[in-house]
Amino acid sequence: MERYVIKGGVALEGEVTIAGAKNAALGILAAAVLTDEECIIENVPSVEDTRVLLRAIEGLGAKVKYIDAHTVSICAGTIRGGEDLCVDDMYIRKIRASYYLLGALLGKYHYAEVALPGGCEIGLRPIDQHIKGFEALGASVDIVNGGMVRAQAEQLIGRHVYMDVVTVGATINIMLAAVLAEGKTTIENAAKEPHIVDVANFLNSMGANIKGAGTDVIRIRGVQKLKGTEYSIIPDQIEAGTFMTMAAATGGNVLIKNVIPKHLEAISSKLNEIGAHVLEYDDSVRVMADGRLKSTQIKTLPYPGFPTDMQPQMAVTLALSQGTSIITESIFENRFKYVNELSRMGARIKVEGNSAVINGIESYTGANLVAPDLRAGAALVIAALAAEGFSTVEDIKYILRGYEDFDGKIRALGGKIELVDSDKELQKFKLRVG
Ligand code: UD1
Repeated sequence: MERYVIKGGVALEGEVTIAGAKNAALGILAAAVLTDEECIIENVPSVEDTRVLLRAIEGLGAKVKYIDAHTVSICAGTIRGGEDLCVDDMYIRKIRASYYLLGALLGKYHYAEVALPGGCEIGLRPIDQHIKGFEALGASVDIVNGGMVRAQAEQLIGRHVYMDVVTVGATINIMLAAVLAEGKTTIENAAKEPHIVDVANFLNSMGANIKGAGTDVIRIRGVQKLKGTEYSIIPDQIEAGTFMTMAAATGGNVLIKNVIPKHLEAISSKLNEIGAHVLEYDDSVRVMADGRLKSTQIKTLPYPGFPTDMQPQMAVTLALSQGTSIITESIFENRFKYVNELSRMGARIKVEGNSAVINGIESYTGANLVAPDLRAGAALVIAALAAEGFSTVEDIKYILRGYEDFDGKIRALGGKIELVDSDKELQKFKLRVG
């Protein structure tokens, strides 16, 4: 069984280079099916979620080619329509972003059938706002054949869509469905995350006419046709934030390269507030920490608020800080599943409703841990790196979905971690690191 084995207690030091943003890549790769021409997409993170989505796009009949490890060429001109427009396999059911193929295929072919999205079990995660948007544009949407979502339209016509909740997925999906619709679509109460701007920039480089991405009103004027393009994806804000908290929690000194510091402001300001030092450069940040950090209060919010995808990593850091911290999770209702695992390492955290009350302890003790989801899995790795003694983290399939070469990058910073596949390999690691 694949798992990480970690010996904690090393302050991480050195440099790490951040990959392209997973959540931007998922929207952009799906968007490439909106044109018959070739799209060359650079800085695609090499993670399980992007590989699964690319396989699904290939399964639709598109030509997908890796030009190098992070550059992908997609040519969707070979998609025939009809039965091609049905996306279902055991892998696609596991990733959340499969829903972007609904918007993109509906936009281009006016028909799509996609297996209901999976992803991390961090809450209910409905898709009612996606459906509301598609229906506003004139599509009919129903659930068919055991969990397939089918969206179809004679014609898509631009409309005014008001989002009842701020949702990243639905904002991107409605943009995908609307770029080729007739007339003007306005999305109000849109999400403002950097990856929404990135998907909009990609679509505009294909010839779309989208204005206002990054604000809460996005205006899309439909065009007749989109063309091929070359585009480079922005750096991953959450991977960067994960390494920032890793540096802070281990009392290290790490230069995090290939980032957009502006996208990290919510994270940087919380780390500064608790006593770590974050220095910002043009396209990198340095995070340093020595001595015990302090407590704070955090509430997760849509961008530019503190990201829900950074909540577990920050909790792991605060559980080692002096005093009582409170974290309120306002986006997903089931995002404290890592707390039981952390408690087994000595953490003193009490969850009440959507808040966690954290009483800081001096240090964690190593334990055998199970990753409950992607970001919580990364957070447990941080805890293990900061802990005394050995830990293992199982169910790392979640972590591999969203972090490229996670253990390799940590080793390069001096962290003692290895991905092992058997008890024998685990014992060998223990003997080697002593
Ligand atoms: C995306 C990210 C995920 C991140 C989240 C919030 C991807 C593939 N995943 O997820 O990593 O944690 O944004 O930044 O990009 N909601 C509804 N109805 C809907 C859609 C959403 O009520 O139709 C609710 C959700 O339950 C949640 C909130 O809106 O409470 C935000 O969800 P959303 O932003 O859509 O998250 P995802 O797109 O699923």
